[in-house]
Amino acid sequence: MNPKDQKVMISPFAKEVTEGLTAFPKHLSSKFFYDEIGDKLFQQIMDLPEYYLTNAEFDIFQLHKKDILQSFDNHKEGFDLVELGAGDGKKTKILLKELLDQQYDVTYHPIDISENAVQGLSNDLKKEFPKLDVEGQIGEYFEVLDKLKNINNRKKVIMVLGSNIGNLLHPRAIQFLKKLNTVMHSDDLLFIGFDQKKHPQIVLDAYNDQTGVTAAFNKNILTRINKELGGDFDVDTFIHWEVYDPENGTAKSYLLSTKKQTVAIDCLSLDVHFEAWESIHTEISQKYDDDTVKWLAEESGLEITSSFTDANKYYKNYVFQKTK
Ligand code: AVI
Repeated sequence: MNPKDQKVMISPFAKEVTEGLTAFPKHLSSKFFYDEIGDKLFQQIMDLPEYYLTNAEFDIFQLHKKDILQSFDNHKEGFDLVELGAGDGKKTKILLKELLDQQYDVTYHPIDISENAVQGLSNDLKKEFPKLDVEGQIGEYFEVLDKLKNINNRKKVIMVLGSNIGNLLHPRAIQFLKKLNTVMHSDDLLFIGFDQKKHPQIVLDAYNDQTGVTAAFNKNILTRINKELGGDFDVDTFIHWEVYDPENGTAKSYLLSTKKQTVAIDCLSLDVHFEAWESIHTEISQKYDDDTVKWLAEESGLEITSSFTDANKYYKNYVFQKTK
Protein backbone atom coordinates (compact mmCIF):
# COMPACT_ATOMS: atom_id res chain seq x y z
CA MET A 1 0.00 0.00 0.00
CA ASN A 2 1.46 3.39 -0.87
CA PRO A 3 1.71 6.06 1.88
CA LYS A 4 -1.08 8.15 0.37
CA ASP A 5 -3.56 5.28 0.71
CA GLN A 6 -2.37 4.63 4.24
CA LYS A 7 -3.24 8.21 5.17
CA VAL A 8 -6.76 7.77 3.76
CA MET A 9 -7.17 4.52 5.74
CA ILE A 10 -6.50 6.18 9.07
CA SER A 11 -8.40 9.43 8.60
CA PRO A 12 -11.34 9.75 11.04
CA PHE A 13 -13.69 9.90 8.03
CA ALA A 14 -12.30 6.64 6.57
CA LYS A 15 -12.42 4.93 9.96
CA GLU A 16 -15.99 5.93 10.73
CA VAL A 17 -17.27 5.16 7.22
CA THR A 18 -15.76 1.65 7.48
CA GLU A 19 -17.30 1.11 10.92
CA GLY A 20 -20.67 2.60 10.03
CA LEU A 21 -21.21 0.83 6.72
CA THR A 22 -20.12 -2.58 8.00
CA ALA A 23 -22.40 -2.31 11.05
CA PHE A 24 -26.00 -3.47 11.21
CA PRO A 25 -28.03 -1.34 11.04
CA LYS A 26 -25.79 0.93 8.96
CA HIS A 27 -24.98 4.43 10.18
CA LEU A 28 -22.82 7.47 9.32
CA SER A 29 -22.22 10.55 11.47
CA SER A 30 -23.82 13.87 10.55
CA LYS A 31 -20.57 15.63 11.49
CA PHE A 32 -19.35 14.53 8.04
CA PHE A 33 -22.09 16.51 6.24
CA TYR A 34 -19.98 19.64 6.47
CA ASP A 35 -17.49 20.01 3.62
CA GLU A 36 -17.55 23.10 1.39
CA ILE A 37 -20.72 21.93 -0.39
CA GLY A 38 -22.34 20.79 2.89
CA ASP A 39 -21.64 24.19 4.48
CA LYS A 40 -23.38 25.93 1.55
CA LEU A 41 -26.35 23.55 1.71
CA PHE A 42 -26.68 24.18 5.45
CA GLN A 43 -26.68 27.94 4.78
CA GLN A 44 -29.56 27.35 2.33
CA ILE A 45 -31.39 25.21 4.92
CA MET A 46 -31.21 28.07 7.43
CA ASP A 47 -33.00 30.28 4.87
CA LEU A 48 -35.80 27.77 4.20
CA PRO A 49 -39.29 28.78 5.36
CA GLU A 50 -39.77 25.27 6.86
CA TYR A 51 -36.56 25.45 8.93
CA TYR A 52 -38.08 27.49 11.76
CA LEU A 53 -35.10 27.10 14.14
CA THR A 54 -33.05 30.00 12.79
CA ASN A 55 -35.93 32.48 12.79
CA ALA A 56 -37.08 31.38 16.23
CA GLU A 57 -33.66 32.02 17.76
CA PHE A 58 -33.44 35.30 15.84
CA ASP A 59 -36.82 36.33 17.33
CA ILE A 60 -35.65 35.42 20.83
CA PHE A 61 -32.65 37.71 20.43
CA GLN A 62 -34.80 40.55 19.11
CA LEU A 63 -37.53 40.13 21.73
CA HIS A 64 -35.30 39.60 24.76
CA LYS A 65 -31.93 41.22 23.98
CA LYS A 66 -32.08 43.55 26.99
CA ASP A 67 -32.99 40.80 29.47
CA ILE A 68 -30.47 38.42 27.93
CA LEU A 69 -27.66 40.92 28.41
CA GLN A 70 -28.80 41.67 31.94
CA SER A 71 -28.67 37.97 32.72
CA PHE A 72 -25.08 37.95 31.41
CA ASP A 73 -23.76 40.99 33.25
CA ASN A 74 -26.30 42.71 35.47
CA HIS A 75 -23.85 45.21 36.95
CA LYS A 76 -21.94 45.94 33.74
CA GLU A 77 -18.69 44.73 35.23
CA GLY A 78 -17.46 43.51 31.87
CA PHE A 79 -17.17 40.05 30.36
CA ASP A 80 -15.79 37.96 27.52
CA LEU A 81 -18.42 36.61 25.12
CA VAL A 82 -17.19 33.36 23.59
CA GLU A 83 -19.22 31.85 20.74
CA LEU A 84 -18.61 28.25 19.66
CA GLY A 85 -19.25 27.72 15.93
CA ALA A 86 -19.99 31.37 15.21
CA GLY A 87 -20.86 30.98 11.48
CA ASP A 88 -21.99 34.24 9.88
CA GLY A 89 -22.96 35.78 13.23
CA LYS A 90 -26.36 36.91 11.95
CA LYS A 91 -28.14 36.27 15.25
CA THR A 92 -25.24 37.31 17.46
CA LYS A 93 -25.05 40.71 15.77
CA ILE A 94 -28.35 41.64 17.44
CA LEU A 95 -26.73 41.12 20.85
CA LEU A 96 -23.48 42.77 19.81
CA LYS A 97 -25.29 45.90 18.66
CA GLU A 98 -27.20 46.07 21.93
CA LEU A 99 -23.97 45.52 23.91
CA LEU A 100 -22.40 48.49 22.16
CA ASP A 101 -25.51 50.68 22.39
CA GLN A 102 -25.66 50.05 26.13
CA GLN A 103 -21.91 50.46 26.54
CA TYR A 104 -21.20 47.08 28.05
CA ASP A 105 -17.49 46.34 28.43
CA VAL A 106 -17.15 43.21 26.30
CA THR A 107 -14.66 41.31 24.16
CA TYR A 108 -16.25 38.99 21.60
CA HIS A 109 -14.41 35.75 20.78
CA PRO A 110 -15.92 33.90 17.81
CA ILE A 111 -14.47 30.36 17.73
CA ASP A 112 -14.61 28.13 14.71
CA ILE A 113 -12.58 25.32 13.22
CA SER A 114 -12.74 27.14 9.87
CA GLU A 115 -10.20 29.95 9.48
CA ASN A 116 -12.36 31.38 6.68
CA ALA A 117 -15.40 31.63 8.94
CA VAL A 118 -13.52 33.38 11.77
CA GLN A 119 -11.64 35.72 9.43
CA GLY A 120 -14.75 36.56 7.40
CA LEU A 121 -16.83 37.31 10.50
CA SER A 122 -14.07 39.35 12.17
CA ASN A 123 -13.62 41.52 9.04
CA ASP A 124 -17.35 41.93 8.70
CA LEU A 125 -17.70 42.98 12.36
CA LYS A 126 -14.83 45.45 12.07
CA LYS A 127 -16.79 47.25 9.35
CA GLU A 128 -20.19 47.04 11.00
CA PHE A 129 -19.10 47.66 14.62
CA PRO A 130 -15.70 49.43 14.52
CA LYS A 131 -15.84 49.99 18.30
CA LEU A 132 -16.34 46.31 19.14
CA ASP A 133 -13.37 44.43 20.57
CA VAL A 134 -13.20 41.19 18.53
CA GLU A 135 -10.64 38.45 19.13
CA GLY A 136 -11.43 35.52 16.86
CA GLN A 137 -9.94 32.11 17.66
CA ILE A 138 -9.39 29.32 15.16
CA GLY A 139 -9.39 25.73 16.37
CA GLU A 140 -11.19 22.89 18.11
CA TYR A 141 -13.66 24.26 20.68
CA PHE A 142 -12.07 22.74 23.75
CA GLU A 143 -8.46 23.53 22.85
CA VAL A 144 -9.41 27.17 22.36
CA LEU A 145 -11.58 27.24 25.47
CA ASP A 146 -8.70 25.81 27.49
CA LYS A 147 -6.50 28.67 26.27
CA LEU A 148 -9.22 31.20 27.04
CA LYS A 149 -9.80 29.74 30.50
CA ASN A 150 -6.96 31.70 32.00
CA ILE A 151 -6.64 34.54 29.50
CA ASN A 152 -7.85 37.02 32.12
CA ASN A 153 -9.94 36.83 35.25
CA ARG A 154 -13.02 38.37 33.74
CA LYS A 155 -16.32 36.58 33.62
CA LYS A 156 -16.87 34.43 30.52
CA VAL A 157 -20.19 33.78 28.78
CA ILE A 158 -20.00 30.84 26.40
CA MET A 159 -22.66 30.72 23.67
CA VAL A 160 -23.69 27.62 21.73
CA LEU A 161 -26.51 28.53 19.33
CA GLY A 162 -28.54 26.78 16.62
CA SER A 163 -29.55 23.75 18.76
CA ASN A 164 -26.23 22.20 17.75
CA ILE A 165 -26.41 20.11 20.92
CA GLY A 166 -29.45 18.40 19.36
CA ASN A 167 -27.18 16.49 16.99
CA LEU A 168 -25.83 14.57 19.99
CA LEU A 169 -27.50 11.65 21.75
CA HIS A 170 -28.13 12.42 25.44
CA PRO A 171 -24.99 10.66 26.77
CA ARG A 172 -22.80 12.60 24.32
CA ALA A 173 -24.66 15.84 25.06
CA ILE A 174 -23.84 15.29 28.74
CA GLN A 175 -20.18 14.65 27.88
CA PHE A 176 -20.16 17.91 25.90
CA LEU A 177 -21.78 19.89 28.73
CA LYS A 178 -19.44 18.32 31.30
CA LYS A 179 -16.45 19.37 29.20
CA LEU A 180 -17.83 22.92 29.00
CA ASN A 181 -18.30 22.81 32.76
CA THR A 182 -14.57 22.04 33.24
CA VAL A 183 -13.53 25.21 31.37
CA MET A 184 -15.96 27.42 33.29
CA HIS A 185 -15.04 29.36 36.43
CA SER A 186 -17.64 29.69 39.16
CA ASP A 187 -19.15 32.94 37.80
CA ASP A 188 -19.02 31.98 34.13
CA LEU A 189 -22.22 31.29 32.22
CA LEU A 190 -23.29 29.07 29.36
CA PHE A 191 -25.97 30.39 26.98
CA ILE A 192 -27.26 27.53 24.92
CA GLY A 193 -30.11 26.94 22.43
CA PHE A 194 -32.38 23.88 22.62
CA ASP A 195 -35.08 23.29 20.00
CA GLN A 196 -38.35 22.42 21.76
CA LYS A 197 -40.92 19.65 21.26
CA LYS A 198 -43.82 20.88 19.13
CA HIS A 199 -46.43 19.64 16.63
CA PRO A 200 -44.72 16.69 14.94
CA GLN A 201 -45.67 17.90 11.45
CA ILE A 202 -43.75 21.14 11.99
CA VAL A 203 -40.64 19.14 12.90
CA LEU A 204 -41.06 16.74 9.97
CA ASP A 205 -41.48 19.62 7.51
CA ALA A 206 -38.35 21.34 8.83
CA TYR A 207 -36.29 18.25 7.99
CA ASN A 208 -38.07 17.33 4.77
CA ASP A 209 -38.43 20.59 2.87
CA GLN A 210 -40.35 20.93 -0.39
CA THR A 211 -37.34 22.04 -2.43
CA GLY A 212 -35.18 19.05 -1.47
CA VAL A 213 -32.27 21.01 0.02
CA THR A 214 -32.28 18.84 3.16
CA ALA A 215 -32.28 15.71 1.00
CA ALA A 216 -29.24 17.05 -0.90
CA PHE A 217 -27.56 17.91 2.43
CA ASN A 218 -28.11 14.36 3.71
CA LYS A 219 -26.94 12.77 0.44
CA ASN A 220 -23.81 14.93 0.42
CA ILE A 221 -22.23 12.40 2.77
CA LEU A 222 -22.40 9.80 -0.03
CA THR A 223 -20.90 12.28 -2.50
CA ARG A 224 -18.08 12.88 -0.02
CA ILE A 225 -17.42 9.14 0.19
CA ASN A 226 -17.29 9.04 -3.63
CA LYS A 227 -14.90 12.00 -3.84
CA GLU A 228 -12.67 11.37 -0.86
CA LEU A 229 -12.67 7.61 -0.49
CA GLY A 230 -13.15 6.45 -4.10
CA GLY A 231 -16.73 5.28 -3.59
CA ASP A 232 -19.13 4.54 -6.44
CA PHE A 233 -22.45 5.41 -4.80
CA ASP A 234 -25.16 6.27 -7.34
CA VAL A 235 -26.75 8.90 -5.09
CA ASP A 236 -29.92 8.90 -7.19
CA THR A 237 -30.66 5.37 -5.97
CA PHE A 238 -30.92 6.64 -2.38
CA ILE A 239 -33.72 8.72 -0.88
CA HIS A 240 -33.76 10.98 2.16
CA TRP A 241 -36.20 9.83 4.86
CA GLU A 242 -37.16 11.64 8.04
CA VAL A 243 -38.98 10.27 11.08
CA TYR A 244 -39.97 11.98 14.32
CA ASP A 245 -40.88 10.22 17.55
CA PRO A 246 -43.03 12.59 19.64
CA GLU A 247 -42.53 10.36 22.70
CA ASN A 248 -38.80 10.97 23.07
CA GLY A 249 -38.51 14.09 20.85
CA THR A 250 -35.99 12.53 18.49
CA ALA A 251 -36.03 13.41 14.77
CA LYS A 252 -33.91 10.97 12.77
CA SER A 253 -32.61 11.26 9.22
CA TYR A 254 -31.95 8.24 7.06
CA LEU A 255 -30.77 7.45 3.57
CA LEU A 256 -32.64 4.51 2.04
CA SER A 257 -31.33 2.39 -0.79
CA THR A 258 -34.22 2.10 -3.27
CA LYS A 259 -32.80 -1.16 -4.67
CA LYS A 260 -30.61 -4.13 -3.86
CA GLN A 261 -27.07 -3.11 -4.79
CA THR A 262 -23.39 -3.34 -3.92
CA VAL A 263 -21.30 -0.19 -3.62
CA ALA A 264 -17.51 -0.36 -3.90
CA ILE A 265 -15.34 2.02 -1.86
CA ASP A 266 -11.88 1.65 -3.39
CA CYS A 267 -9.73 3.43 -0.79
CA LEU A 268 -11.24 1.28 1.95
CA SER A 269 -11.07 -1.94 -0.15
CA LEU A 270 -14.69 -2.34 0.86
CA ASP A 271 -17.80 -3.64 -0.92
CA VAL A 272 -20.96 -2.52 0.85
CA HIS A 273 -24.07 -4.55 0.17
CA PHE A 274 -27.54 -3.01 0.43
CA GLU A 275 -30.84 -4.85 0.41
CA ALA A 276 -33.70 -2.95 -1.23
CA TRP A 277 -34.97 -0.29 1.25
CA GLU A 278 -32.11 -0.85 3.64
CA SER A 279 -31.31 2.26 5.69
CA ILE A 280 -28.26 4.28 6.69
CA HIS A 281 -29.00 6.35 9.80
CA THR A 282 -27.22 9.70 9.39
CA GLU A 283 -28.45 12.28 11.90
CA ILE A 284 -30.46 12.91 15.02
CA SER A 285 -31.98 16.32 15.72
CA GLN A 286 -33.23 16.12 19.29
CA LYS A 287 -36.22 18.19 20.46
CA TYR A 288 -36.43 19.02 24.16
CA ASP A 289 -38.70 20.09 26.99
CA ASP A 290 -37.77 21.87 30.23
CA ASP A 291 -37.53 18.65 32.25
CA THR A 292 -35.08 17.08 29.79
CA VAL A 293 -32.91 20.19 29.68
CA LYS A 294 -32.95 20.39 33.48
CA TRP A 295 -31.89 16.73 33.67
CA LEU A 296 -29.07 17.25 31.13
CA ALA A 297 -27.84 20.25 33.12
CA GLU A 298 -27.96 18.38 36.44
CA GLU A 299 -26.10 15.39 35.00
CA SER A 300 -23.37 17.83 33.90
CA GLY A 301 -22.98 19.75 37.16
CA LEU A 302 -24.89 22.76 35.81
CA GLU A 303 -28.14 24.51 36.70
CA ILE A 304 -30.57 26.67 34.76
CA THR A 305 -30.72 30.29 35.93
CA SER A 306 -33.06 31.68 33.26
CA SER A 307 -34.51 30.93 29.84
CA PHE A 308 -35.92 32.84 26.88
CA THR A 309 -38.37 31.64 24.26
CA ASP A 310 -39.91 32.95 20.99
CA ALA A 311 -43.57 33.94 20.48
CA ASN A 312 -44.46 30.44 19.17
CA LYS A 313 -42.53 28.69 21.97
CA TYR A 314 -40.76 26.64 19.30
CA TYR A 315 -37.26 27.17 20.70
CA LYS A 316 -35.54 28.13 23.94
CA ASN A 317 -32.21 29.60 24.96
CA TYR A 318 -31.19 28.68 28.50
CA VAL A 319 -28.62 30.31 30.75
CA PHE A 320 -26.64 27.73 32.77
CA GLN A 321 -24.23 28.29 35.63
CA LYS A 322 -22.09 25.80 37.52
CA THR A 323 -24.09 24.12 40.29
CA LYS A 324 -23.41 26.15 43.45
C1 AVI B 1 -26.76 21.88 12.85
N1 AVI B 1 -27.98 21.21 13.30
C2 AVI B 1 -28.45 21.73 14.57
C3 AVI B 1 -29.04 21.09 12.27
C4 AVI B 1 -30.29 20.39 12.87
O1 AVI B 1 -31.33 21.03 12.90
O2 AVI B 1 -30.18 19.25 13.30
C5 AVI B 1 -28.56 20.35 11.04
C6 AVI B 1 -29.64 20.04 10.05
N2 AVI B 1 -29.94 18.88 9.56
C7 AVI B 1 -30.92 18.97 8.71
N3 AVI B 1 -31.32 20.22 8.66
C8 AVI B 1 -30.52 20.93 9.49
